[in-house]
Amino acid sequence: MPALRPRAPLKLHTIALGCQMSAADGAEMSRPFYQRGFSAADSSDQADAILISTCTVRQHAEDRALSLIGALRPWKEAVPERILIVAGCAAERLGPWIRSRFPYVDLVVGAKSIEQFPALVSRALEERFDGLKENRDHFPASGEFSATNSPATAYVTIMRGCNYSCSYCVVPSVRGRELYRRPQEILGEVEMQVARGAREATLLGQTVNSYRSAAEERAIGFPELLRLLDAVPDLARLRFMSPHPYYVDEAFAAAMAECRTLCPFLHLPVQSGSNRLLKLMRRNYTRESYLERVKLLRNALPGIVFSTDIIVGLPSESEEDFRETLSLLEELSPASVYSFKYSPRQATEAASWADDVPQEVKEERLGRLNAAIEKLTVGALRSEIGKKVEVLCEQQDFGRTREGFKARWKNKLLAPGTLASLSVTSATTRTLLGEIQ
Ligand code: 5AD
Ligand code: SF4
Repeated sequence: MPALRPRAPLKLHTIALGCQMSAADGAEMSRPFYQRGFSAADSSDQADAILISTCTVRQHAEDRALSLIGALRPWKEAVPERILIVAGCAAERLGPWIRSRFPYVDLVVGAKSIEQFPALVSRALEERFDGLKENRDHFPASGEFSATNSPATAYVTIMRGCNYSCSYCVVPSVRGRELYRRPQEILGEVEMQVARGAREATLLGQTVNSYRSAAEERAIGFPELLRLLDAVPDLARLRFMSPHPYYVDEAFAAAMAECRTLCPFLHLPVQSGSNRLLKLMRRNYTRESYLERVKLLRNALPGIVFSTDIIVGLPSESEEDFRETLSLLEELSPASVYSFKYSPRQATEAASWADDVPQEVKEERLGRLNAAIEKLTVGALRSEIGKKVEVLCEQQDFGRTREGFKARWKNKLLAPGTLASLSVTSATTRTLLGEIQ
């Protein structure tokens, strides 16, 4: 195949589908391209290479990835030297099938192979773009793909994989067991992100608070890691996603309360309010122990705002189980909830059970759940009206409060990364509105 002559400069379009982890992986996997002189393309038309970071946690995420790969066929066939790479969780789960169904894809790299990604990319690029060295010398890296929507915020992956085996979840089989990054490496990345302008870092991991450092150093757990990062000058806010309720203890709550950068907000996935279903899910906590941990956090951080994940329609879910979920929701009173209809994922324990909650019952429960969530969200936003809150500007007229509420204003344009005081005057159903002081 004739090598594509380097034009100036080669461009990469990164498309991250699904969760934050997929976005962070997309950014990490883009790096070897930028190091070779690629710059970021905003659309596929202008791109010489497309990298799709895929997600497979729910059927819907996987379907989107597959239809996107299908839709890129004309792009690839128009200029066969272009490079199409499919990476991440769906690539791990469906690798051989993707290769045979979409033979025009150049490289399929599963989520477990992220460590080998730079070498694989290097080989593909050197084959295709033999003038790359020259290209690199003339066009230094610019405009990197960022995992977040704002230069003021950054994602930092602290661990990969998951040691749980929740019966409905495909993640352990596509991402493997837990692997932890070294504290010094994490610290270095946070410092690097702050040096390039970020004021907020979100630490990522499937069960982020089960983090522990590699054995050769003094052992440190998640609370110590938080304290280490809290000392980074100019880091204004530290967040993390998603903690597992099992690892919420006194030391965790104390670190959250004492670290200046930690925000009074926690996304704490509960999945269900029924002990019977929590057991079937293998979540390793009960409704009571979950709520105990919530109480511990409320005592340590008065005013803490919660959000959570809920699945409706797990096999055998009864009306009574579902009501338990609704009542837990009232007790937790979160400001926002990600609600999902159960979808069977291949090779999970639950996939071997009859998917016996009828589709219309799942829809009906999801509708009732979403109505309850809407009320809680509107109530949480309303309770902010009249307050003066700190916002971190992510765009000129948009930012977030420490509690994680989205906020907009019209009276000033501020540079992303600015911390400002906002007087909250009203709220839509999703966003606070106010005036910068
Ligand atoms: N069906 C529906 N929702 C799921 N989730 C994970 N697996 C499934 C599934 N098979 C949801 C959980 C998890 C979130 C990331 O996705 O709520 O916390
Ligand atoms: Fe999946 Fe459970 Fe691991 Fe979360 S903790 S990634 S739901 S197996």
